[in-house]
Formats: sequence, structure tokens, C-alpha cells
Amino acid sequence: MADCNVVVLISGSGSNLQALIDSIAHDGNPARIAAVISNRADAYGLERAKQAGIATRVLDHKQFDGRDAFDAALIETIDGFDPQLVVLAGFMRILTGGFVRHYEGRLLNIHPSLLPKYKGLHTHQRALEAGDREHGCSVHFVTEELDGGPLVVQAVVPVESDDTPESLAQRVHGQEHHIYPLAMRWFAEGRLRLGQTGAQLDGKDLPATGHLIRT
Ligand code: GRF
Repeated sequence: MADCNVVVLISGSGSNLQALIDSIAHDGNPARIAAVISNRADAYGLERAKQAGIATRVLDHKQFDGRDAFDAALIETIDGFDPQLVVLAGFMRILTGGFVRHYEGRLLNIHPSLLPKYKGLHTHQRALEAGDREHGCSVHFVTEELDGGPLVVQAVVPVESDDTPESLAQRVHGQEHHIYPLAMRWFAEGRLRLGQTGAQLDGKDLPATGHLIRT
């Protein structure tokens, strides 16, 4: 199977990036991480990439005159690596419509909630405040609606009565490290695509939740 070039965008610790890197060591995974790009020079994920021998770039959004200029430079940097797939792994910037359209059908994001619940920030605290019995994480194709694109896979994590935002975040993070490599591999193998009506796996429409994993 032909390799699938992947570019990963990060802003921070990069534990999801590490899970993606580790998953590629597995037999027959056609994904190849061509580059890791961060908008912050101090993102620890850059170290993880260097240790794995992956090219890194830093593009500091504060050096640009507005979102359009930053996203145009970002596109130029990403496309220099000729990716079939672009993966957002804790990239804390809102992307312009032009950027999202440029990568339509080949841009994935991971979000720490069971979308469409809790778009945006502080998802673990919001799930606890609402008294939810279940929480989790989602991988989705990115569209112009923030955290709103077609779902690929979700992992459901039961909420315990003594959970704090931190303890819940830790268990959800553990599941993120499982579902993101899975989605990347499906895409790299040509099994996952964005169809007219949503995400498709092996030529069949996925349910609105995406592929659902219960832990
Ligand atoms: C994760 O919780 C992810 O869901 C969100 O940003 C966080 C990134 O964590 N989009 P890390 O940098 O991968 O550790």
C-alpha cells in the first residue's frame, strides 16, 4: 500500500502526537508523519517530533497581521510537505474558512467531549456540572463550523461519582490516544473518507456518532 503523508499541527504537550508516532511503528501502517508544525516555539510536542526524527516547523501566529495572513503562511508550510492528511492534535487556533476549505476531506481534529456536546473549552468541567453519567472524546472531519464536522469515531468514558475535572480528563486523554491513531490509520489505508452525507468507512456511511467505542 502506498504511504500516506501526514502533517500534524500542535500547540502544546503533544501526547496525541506521541500516540500517533507510536502507532506508526506497527506493522503495515501506511501513515508517515512528514512534519509537525506548531504555532508555539515552546510546545513540548516539538521535542517529541525531533526525538522521532520528524521535521518540525514553528509558525508564530503573533508574527502575522491577522488570521488570513497566518493561515496563508500555514497552508504554504503544510503544502511544502505534500500531505494527503492534515491532523490537528491540540492546535489551539481557530482556522479560517479558506484554510478549512483548502483541506476539505483531509483534515481531522480530536476533541475532548462526546460531540455535539460541549464544543469549545472546559469540556470535562462542563460534563461534571451537567451531571452526565458518560463523557468521552471524538475524532471528526473539520468543516467551517467549530468542532462541528462529521464524526469519525467516539470513545465513551463512564463518569465516576468522585471524578474531578482532572481525573476525568486523564481517562478521556487515555482514550484519545487510542481513537486518533485508529482514525489516522483508517484514512491512510483508504478506508475512511468524507462523503456527500458524512464520514464513510469501507464505503458505508458511519452513524451520526461515528464509530462508537465503549470502555
Ligand atoms: C486534547 O485534549 C485534545 O482533545 C484537544 O487538545 C488536547 C491536546 O492534548 N484538542 P495533547 O497536546 O495531545 O496532549
